[in-house]
Amino acid sequence: MLAWIVTGVCLFYLLVNFLLLHWAGVKPLARFINDENHLNATLARLLKPRWPGSLGHSQVRDFLLQELLDLGFHTDRDEFVDGVAFTNVMGTINPEAPNFLLLCCHYDTVNLTDVEGYLGATDGAVSCAILLNMAKTLGPYLREELRKRLDIGLALVFFDGHEPMPTDRKDSSALRGSKRFVRMETLPLESIELAIALNFIGAPAQAYMSHYDNTYMLHNRLAEIELDLRGSRQLAPCHLLFQKLKDHDTDLPDDHYPFLDEGVPVIHLAPYRYPQVWHTAADNAAHLHWPTVLNMNSIIRQFVHEYLENHDDDTTYRLDS
Ligand SMILES: *[C@@H]1O[C@H](CO)[C@@H](O)[C@H](O)[C@H]1NC(C)=O
Ligand SMILES: *[C@@H]1O[C@H](CO)[C@@H](O)[C@H](O)[C@H]1NC(C)=O
Repeated sequence: MLAWIVTGVCLFYLLVNFLLLHWAGVKPLARFINDENHLNATLARLLKPRWPGSLGHSQVRDFLLQELLDLGFHTDRDEFVDGVAFTNVMGTINPEAPNFLLLCCHYDTVNLTDVEGYLGATDGAVSCAILLNMAKTLGPYLREELRKRLDIGLALVFFDGHEPMPTDRKDSSALRGSKRFVRMETLPLESIELAIALNFIGAPAQAYMSHYDNTYMLHNRLAEIELDLRGSRQLAPCHLLFQKLKDHDTDLPDDHYPFLDEGVPVIHLAPYRYPQVWHTAADNAAHLHWPTVLNMNSIIRQFVHEYLENHDDDTTYRLDS
């Protein structure tokens, strides 16, 4: 009698477990192979002074466009003049899609009077390298699987004109590129389901919190992905980057602001304070905390893949819907 009850309870437990996993759509994480050589080589190509008007600036712009093209992306460049020439660079998979997951960062550096050759390693370069490395390591998936989809596309946007020019106020970001992108609707704003802006990644002891309530669940998903990757030994030894915490009253000004103003759901993938090296000569490769860079790279790649895979017609994070 007892044996029957135990067996019954066990079977019931297994059934509930199976159904819960099934309903919740919990699948084991897909595995991707790191390409650290590509990440390093990409970062090396970006780490040069690249203020608008400089040689480094046009070299980096051309490099971004060429990389995106080589990785099978449709590319767009949007040039505009405001004293000097600025160029936003965009790469898309499924450029005609009705919905987009958009990831962005800025590629220009500030032309500081007191720091010659400011490299902005955490200030743009690492974020750009992470996006290109994601495009590289997810390449087969993007070209073979995502291309067949009609419901969603991926957009990687590299903004210019983020930093103030000598004629601007020194203490604030100019955000020329992102403001222009939103104003011109380089991608129709209605089609942008989620915009993720990356910045200031790669200093030691960083913590990442949620900044906006409507994307808090997605932020938590990033935190869970970090734990899952760590559990399956796919991360470098490092403190946890993502905290399941709401920091909804403060945020560093960045390229997500213009999107936010237009009601596009955003995640600001940035720490809660500026790196100590920010706008100093020390914002270079030698001062990067490499485990942070590697882990952020793995977490974002996993998140993007999962987001695209799980997307369906009901997906929305807009407050007005
Ligand atoms: C990439 O660069 C980091 C930091 O400079 C270094 O620690 C790491 O060994 C490099 N990895 C490879 C594969 O070259
Ligand atoms: C950037 O700084 C350099 C050196 O201080 C200066 O020669 C150059 O004119 C500046 N460029 C711009 C676009 O302001």
